[in-house]
Amino acid sequence: RNLQQPDIGLKPIPVEQDLMFDAVNVPEGYTANVFFSWGDSVEKGASPWRPDGSNSWQEQMKQAGQNHDGIWFFPFPDKPDEHGLLVMNHEYINPTLHPNGLTITEDSHGFKQRPEHEVKKEMAAHGVSVIEVRKQSNGHWQKVNDSDYNRRITGFTPMDLTGEVAGTDFLKTVADHAGRQVLGTLNNCAMGVTPWGTYLTCEENWKNYFVNRDAEDYEQRPAHHRYGVAQDKNSNYYAWESVEPRFNATPDHNVAHGGYVNEPNRFGWVVEIDPFSPDSTPKKRTSMGRLVRECSTLSLGDDRRMAFYFGDDTRGEYVYKFVPDQVYEPGNSAANRDILDHGTLYVAVFHNDGRGEWRPLVFGQNGLTRRNGFTSQADVLVHARRAADILGATTMDRPEWVAVHPQTREVYVTLTNNKHRGKKEDQEINAANPREDNRHGQIVRFTEENSDPTATHFDWEIFLLAGDRPGATLADGSSVPENLVGDIKGDIFSSPDGIWFDYQGRLWIQTDYGDDDERNINMGTNQMLCCDPVTAEVKRFLTGPRGCEITGVTTTPDGKAMWVNIQHPAISFPASDGKTRPRSSTVLITKDDGGVIGT
Ligand code: FEO
Ligand code: CA
Ligand code: CA
Ligand code: CA
Repeated sequence: RNLQQPDIGLKPIPVEQDLMFDAVNVPEGYTANVFFSWGDSVEKGASPWRPDGSNSWQEQMKQAGQNHDGIWFFPFPDKPDEHGLLVMNHEYINPTLHPNGLTITEDSHGFKQRPEHEVKKEMAAHGVSVIEVRKQSNGHWQKVNDSDYNRRITGFTPMDLTGEVAGTDFLKTVADHAGRQVLGTLNNCAMGVTPWGTYLTCEENWKNYFVNRDAEDYEQRPAHHRYGVAQDKNSNYYAWESVEPRFNATPDHNVAHGGYVNEPNRFGWVVEIDPFSPDSTPKKRTSMGRLVRECSTLSLGDDRRMAFYFGDDTRGEYVYKFVPDQVYEPGNSAANRDILDHGTLYVAVFHNDGRGEWRPLVFGQNGLTRRNGFTSQADVLVHARRAADILGATTMDRPEWVAVHPQTREVYVTLTNNKHRGKKEDQEINAANPREDNRHGQIVRFTEENSDPTATHFDWEIFLLAGDRPGATLADGSSVPENLVGDIKGDIFSSPDGIWFDYQGRLWIQTDYGDDDERNINMGTNQMLCCDPVTAEVKRFLTGPRGCEITGVTTTPDGKAMWVNIQHPAISFPASDGKTRPRSSTVLITKDDGGVIGT
């Protein structure tokens, strides 16, 4: 191992146990300021946010969405540490979007009905925001209002479907006979960036927006049932199907392409966005496979070949990577434009002896054949989970983000938690997922053979098991059960989710657990921690307001400005007055002496 030890000088902070805590704590010598909240203006002509939730859906189209998640700072080349585009995901919506929550009625058949203006506002509050940001001469960062770069991408935005599956029957609907254009991106959780300067937003729990009411059809359609699309009266989340017919994926045999039965196949992809071209059409890159995808994290080799790592975040699902055929060609945007349309998708097998291998999802190989019901590579990609089942992939404890060390290319994966581990027949305990009823999660790290992102073999180990310290007690005085005890050196946490290496090799860990769950009593509110990958020592850097998760982190190249997302706070953050409705927000963190964050 030739990891370089990063400089971590911050003075860690304690857990935040106050049940009414409604702010952000950072260590001595740091300042955290609210920078960008749900409802803030993005596009030109945006209306001010109204605290009673009464902004219209048309107004929401120009304002920041809800549930900020993955985020990235793209510097402008002339002043990279002072000027850039901040791009972030808006994963889903909260009842706070409307004046009095979601209006839901039922028709005489028991189907939920929603008002059209609410559904449209909900679709408008999903997607991505792009904002131009600039450091002022007084040292303060500001969003540039009325910038031509400022852009909202929503559940309505037209996007191209590209790559292996584009134009095949799997993607055709009554509204798109060509199978090449889809409206919107949904449930954008974590992200990735390419070496050529584009943003990759990842579609996670899209399954919850669709319903197939035909039980017989559902049963024989793995594109629905293997991914958890609802087979019920309504979709799992917001019953948009009552207003927008494309969310009703029940087959209609009287119209072309079965109506919208294939609409769910048009989600679950990596979406590539060029933030520097505000008029560009986002592209869903289907060759990268269809998952309940958390992230798409780059590892770039010395030979300019690369891999993108993905977590498929559902209990017992798998870790994947995509290896493009082409190399990255610096400065040649024409050559790089469609790199993500050609390559090989692999799924990970974690053997119990610490070795691992990547098995390719390639039609015609290793059982991905007609005999097993596959008809083409497009079929394999649409049903990537089913293909991975056949390949014998290792079931994991909900893979979330992946981080790649900037020098050594070691890969770290968060496995956030999994209450089914050791409880369900198909999720037996294995070496990489060693705890029954795993409530606190773990981080696994692996090294590709020769540190080559395109390798097909790797060595892996458990980096740390999250959880309580040995001998800790719960609120009722009982000792913490064995399966909830971790081995963290330093500050404790539960349920690692966001994970990222900064430019100098500090490993940042973000958490997503129920801070009202009695099993998390010793953890306090959700947090962000700074970890030394050489010693595995963990120092708590930030604690958030009650009810939030901490997700998404980025810095300027010089590491002196850091943006972190506070998702779904519960009380009144960021107003923190005990009465204003809470808003997901990006906070900007700086060091009071102007230094690098974490030192
Ligand atoms: Fe949206 Fe897996 O977190
Ligand atoms: Ca997440
Ligand atoms: Ca999570
Ligand atoms: Ca979330």
